[in-house]
Amino acid sequence: MRRPLLVALGGWICIVALQVAARTEDIPALPGGPLPGLTPAEFAEFRLGLDDFTEVETAEEGLGPAFNGTSCAVCHDVPAIGGGGVILEVRAGYRNGAGSARALNAAGDTLIHMLSIPSHSCQPLIPDDVNVIARRAPIPVFGAGLVEAILDETILALEDPEDRNRDGVSGRAALIVDVATGERRVGRFGWKAQQATLLAFGADAYRNEMGITNDLFPNESAFGISAAQMRSCDPIPDPEDRRDPATRRRGIDNFESFMKLLAPVARARVDATTLAGERTFAAIGCASCHVPALATGPGRNPLFDRRPVPLFSDLLLHDIGTGDGIEQAAAAASEIRTPALWGLRFRRPLLHDGSAATMIEAILRHREEAETARRGFDRLSQADREELLAFLRSL
Ligand code: HEC
Ligand code: HEC
Repeated sequence: MRRPLLVALGGWICIVALQVAARTEDIPALPGGPLPGLTPAEFAEFRLGLDDFTEVETAEEGLGPAFNGTSCAVCHDVPAIGGGGVILEVRAGYRNGAGSARALNAAGDTLIHMLSIPSHSCQPLIPDDVNVIARRAPIPVFGAGLVEAILDETILALEDPEDRNRDGVSGRAALIVDVATGERRVGRFGWKAQQATLLAFGADAYRNEMGITNDLFPNESAFGISAAQMRSCDPIPDPEDRRDPATRRRGIDNFESFMKLLAPVARARVDATTLAGERTFAAIGCASCHVPALATGPGRNPLFDRRPVPLFSDLLLHDIGTGDGIEQAAAAASEIRTPALWGLRFRRPLLHDGSAATMIEAILRHREEAETARRGFDRLSQADREELLAFLRSL
């Protein structure tokens, strides 16, 4: 892969900052650095990953025919590379009367690309008969390696699809087949928990977001593009993500390394007010889905060996009345995976479609499975509410 000069320069500035961060044993206060305690080899991998995550691709390297961005970092850059952002993607499909949904075609496509190679008109159109158009906000990948290292059993143990404990909350795990291993796994990444591993998510994103096919996703996702358009806008043979002759690594390997070794966002501050807010958060039932901490399984790498993961999510699918009408992987049209709340203070807008400007707006949208918790929020005194919001702002 070629590295344009500007990106290389930007990457270098980040790297200098990261080297400073990597020497400390604590999670860096500013997001964007690696997990504390990397070996020098891991740090080198992280840097290579950061480079590729930031690299701007061109049509000659396989970008397109249609795409949503020219680098991962285009959408994942707030407040640092690896974060979220304000660019929303578009999906479309059909809602049937019976509450079920249908994709755009038999292949199951729902993604509508926003951009295309400009030289020949290859811009896909949204079919005029769709009755669902959904938006999706980027999800930060800070701490993603810790989330990946949570065992399937840990997530499955939190499931209660039949609501046996009658608390109104009936989360279920998203069982999917991981394309990287062919194994049946518990999905955890994406608003629909559509992928279980960072290698698979990165490979899917490379193809979906940038139109760069790879070993795991060798065919273009090109809804609305004819064979003739494909020939003129994307003449590069698939898969387009080739091994770098020097490093023997593919782009998807580098994305995986960067995301795996990226530290989570550290808590801002914990004081009497945020602690009181956290107690309220648990008392009114927010924590039944936004589970304060899970743990990684045992592993040979100390970075991921039985580590606490304070993400504030159960990683399960729930219907809280905000579903986007798109069926995807194991998720129904009405279901969304509980988002992690770590790093919440850096994330705006909120909700899967970016439709909530404030935390209060996001909370007030909670219905269905979250009806009881939201009512609990409605009933809070002004003082309790302030504490709860102070707690959320500390994440
Ligand atoms: C056009 C914007 C855009 C680009 C470019 C982009 N992403 Fe994303 N990313 C998103 C959106 C939107 C989501 C949420 C998607 C969903 O679940 O539907 C997301 C979600 C993710 C997640 C899931 C994180 C989690 O914890 O659930 C990962 C991992 C990810 N992206 C990695 C990548 C990688 C790697 C690249 C580059 C190959 C990339 N993204 C390029 C917009 C983008
Ligand atoms: C039944 C499970 C459930 C309960 C209970 C619940 N939430 Fe959520 N929460 C979710 C889901 C699912 C979403 C994502 C909805 C979407 O994006 O459409 C969400 C989104 C959020 C968001 C926005 C996060 C983001 O990244 O956009 C905040 C903030 C939040 N919840 C706070 C709370 C608070 C505070 C409570 C308690 C009053 C609560 N939640 C109770 C499942 C739950």
